[in-house]
Amino acid sequence: MKQMNTKARFLIAGIIALSLSGMMLFAGSAGAEEAGNDACLICHGNEAKARKKMVYVNAAVLAGSMHAVLKCVDCHTDAKGEPIADKEPPHPEAMKRVNCTGCHHKGNSEGAPDFTPMQEYQTSVHGKASLDKGDQDVATCSDCHGKHNIRRTADPESTTHRANIPRTCAACHDNMQMVLKHNIHAEQPYREYEQSVHGKALFRDGLATIAAVCTDCHGVHDIQPNGAVDLKPHQPATCGKCHLQEYLAYSRSIHGNAFKMGITDSPVCADCHGEHKIEAPWEPESRVSLFNVTETCAGCHDDVAKMSKYNILTNKVSTFTKSDHGMGKDIGIVSVATCVSCHGYHDILPSDDPESSIYRANLKKTCGTQNCHPNPTGEILQSKIHVDKMNRDIGSLRRIRTVALWSVGALLGLGLVTGALAYAGVFKQDSSRVSTP
Ligand code: HEC
Ligand code: HEC
Ligand code: HEC
Ligand code: HEC
Ligand code: HEC
Ligand code: HEC
Ligand code: HEC
Ligand code: HEC
Ligand code: HEC
Ligand code: HEC
Repeated sequence: MKQMNTKARFLIAGIIALSLSGMMLFAGSAGAEEAGNDACLICHGNEAKARKKMVYVNAAVLAGSMHAVLKCVDCHTDAKGEPIADKEPPHPEAMKRVNCTGCHHKGNSEGAPDFTPMQEYQTSVHGKASLDKGDQDVATCSDCHGKHNIRRTADPESTTHRANIPRTCAACHDNMQMVLKHNIHAEQPYREYEQSVHGKALFRDGLATIAAVCTDCHGVHDIQPNGAVDLKPHQPATCGKCHLQEYLAYSRSIHGNAFKMGITDSPVCADCHGEHKIEAPWEPESRVSLFNVTETCAGCHDDVAKMSKYNILTNKVSTFTKSDHGMGKDIGIVSVATCVSCHGYHDILPSDDPESSIYRANLKKTCGTQNCHPNPTGEILQSKIHVDKMNRDIGSLRRIRTVALWSVGALLGLGLVTGALAYAGVFKQDSSRVSTP
């Protein structure tokens, strides 16, 4: 009995409390409805007065935005009531942050489009830091979309329009203080992106609809941190959305197949092309240009720890550098073969694969391409390309080179002797001329 009494009392108290708070809520919203924008702009619309406290709001900006239909208090829900003349603000000093999903959720009564990716945001690197850790630096809805200037993404003036996205992200990601404070893995992605083939396509050529922007590679509301499983910018398929041919060729290669099998040592697009400063292959600075591609392959193929796992010899690069092909490159003969002239680049396959450019039966075609060795003879085809210095099986190329080196030496010697003789001759002639009256 006694227990029932207490329960009943709690129940009554609960009902009273609920109805009281309901009434308060009603009173609150009724007050808010009364507060038109003028009630706020009286203080916030006056630039000179508001500037001092950094709270000037340009009503024209709001009127030009997607939210022109809204009143200030629809978003700033803790501002309410009539303003007390021109003195006391009708709101607490510190206000709650605007809750976008208060309207942008399924079945809302405000007519706001449903924001479906909320869960994506909640589990993104930004959402986790903001919602779970209360981090103030990290991107919230209004950091990317704006405050009073929110426009539809398709609107060129929107901060989330494709042409403006790199700058929107750069506001934080090119800020070194923020990068260091949060230990962010890319230091100046925007500066590098600006100089890339994609950045130039966007900023110089105005190809906003097709040039890759930050969100094409990283995602929008679901951006994940470095090291996350199946990280979007790390997936070849992400680049493949726009570069389908290259993606298909890569997927068939030894590298593509190894990646699919979970071999993380195998290169993805970004390992060969770079992350943000991706350049066209003919740009000398490109990681895949004629002059840099050897080093790019060497990054892995010279790494003993990495290569021994796959039983691949690491002498491929050194033997190439010392070969006729490699030396030609060093002294600037541009037409000489690099790794990719023989192996291909997206479709690289091992030598025992009949589809491979270095499969024995295909060598004739491979060596003959680009008029390198038109109608390659048996000798060229028999010669080993990656010949180790210690290897006794010296290929014919090396023999030819030895002969060539000796010949050059002999010619040089001959040249020196003739030069000296000629010099002496000329000197005599000159002095005789001078002495002639
Ligand atoms: C009497 C002048 C006055 C009026 C009217 C007024 N405000 Fe303010 N408001 C201020 C001042 C002053 C601040 C600066 C913060 C502070 O020091 O209280 C401010 C700050 C704010 C802030 C920023 C709060 C923060 O946490 O940084 C918001 C948002 C805001 N006002 C919204 C409104 C809205 C919405 C209305 C209309 C319902 C309104 N204000 C009406 C004077 C006013
Ligand atoms: C679509 C929602 C929305 C509407 C409508 C809106 N605001 Fe804001 N306002 C924001 C957001 C978002 C911020 C950023 C701070 C935050 O997240 O709470 C903000 C910030 C402010 C600030 C703080 C200064 C600043 O720039 O950060 C003031 C003052 C302010 N609003 C006043 C107003 C006034 C006055 C109106 C009506 C004329 C208004 N707001 C209408 C969303 C809105
Ligand atoms: C009080 C309710 C309300 C709040 C709060 C609100 N919005 Fe909206 N929002 C709307 C309405 C209503 C529309 C549609 C307006 C129209 O179609 O004319 C809209 C439209 C939009 C659009 C255009 C979407 C589209 O597909 O056309 C974006 C983007 C947007 N809001 C973002 C935000 C962000 C970001 C915030 C938080 C800073 C926010 N909204 C806060 C009501 C709200
Ligand atoms: C890191 C930046 C970023 C953050 C944070 C962010 N958004 Fe977005 N949002 C974008 C971009 C960029 C687009 C355009 C996507 C596209 O083109 O597909 C977009 C699209 C939208 C759209 C569709 C609008 C349209 O016009 O098509 C809505 C609605 C939206 N966001 C709401 C939100 C809300 C609500 C939040 C907070 C929970 C939020 N966004 C957080 C960058 C962001
Ligand atoms: C308001 C500032 C701000 C904006 C705008 C912003 N970010 Fe971030 N971002 C951060 C912060 C801060 C972190 C670090 C979060 C943490 O500590 O976990 C971060 C983390 C990241 C990470 C993970 C970094 C790592 O080292 O793992 C990526 C990727 C990222 N942001 C991409 C973007 C992209 C793309 C955009 C634009 C669409 C964007 N961000 C917009 C502040 C911002
Ligand atoms: C062409 C695709 C592409 C574009 C465009 C791009 N990124 Fe990246 N980004 C990458 C790749 C690839 C990585 C390395 C991912 C990894 O960790 O494997 C990366 C890494 C990052 C990181 C470090 C986190 C990490 O996962 O290592 C940040 C922060 C970042 N990018 C921000 C940006 C910003 C901001 C922009 C726009 C200015 C941008 N990115 C544009 C592909 C891109
Ligand atoms: C949203 C589409 C898109 C995505 C995603 C994309 N790219 Fe591109 N990429 C382009 C466009 C468009 C061009 C051509 C720009 C031009 O020629 O002006 C280009 C050019 C290139 C070029 C130079 C090609 C040439 O012939 O000059 C390379 C290399 C490249 N991208 C690599 C990548 C890599 C690697 C990734 C993934 C990390 C990637 N792209 C992601 C659209 C994209
Ligand atoms: C093993 C290194 C490597 C990998 C992995 C790689 N590429 Fe390439 N890529 C190259 C080289 C080398 C070239 C330049 C060849 C040349 O023209 O000299 C190139 C050229 C390109 C071009 C310019 C067009 C062309 O075919 O010449 C595009 C676009 C491109 N790659 C995109 C991609 C994409 C997308 C991926 C991932 C699916 C990828 N690459 C993976 C090495 C690589
Ligand atoms: C990020 C590291 C990495 C880069 C960069 C790289 N590779 Fe590889 N490569 C590998 C790995 C790992 C394998 C072994 C995959 C397997 O066996 O599953 C491999 C396999 C190969 C094979 C087959 C070897 C065999 O014996 O089966 C050839 C040929 C090859 N790579 C050539 C190249 C060329 C040419 C380049 C430059 C255009 C290059 N690789 C760039 C990591 C790399
Ligand atoms: C002139 C053509 C040519 C050049 C240049 C060349 N290779 Fe090779 N590579 C071959 C041939 C042919 C084979 C197979 C026979 C052999 O091992 O000599 C081969 C074998 C390989 C193998 C072992 C593949 C297998 O399945 O056995 C790797 C790995 C390799 N090369 C990497 C490279 C790298 C990295 C470079 C650039 C530093 C390079 N190659 C430059 C023609 C070339």
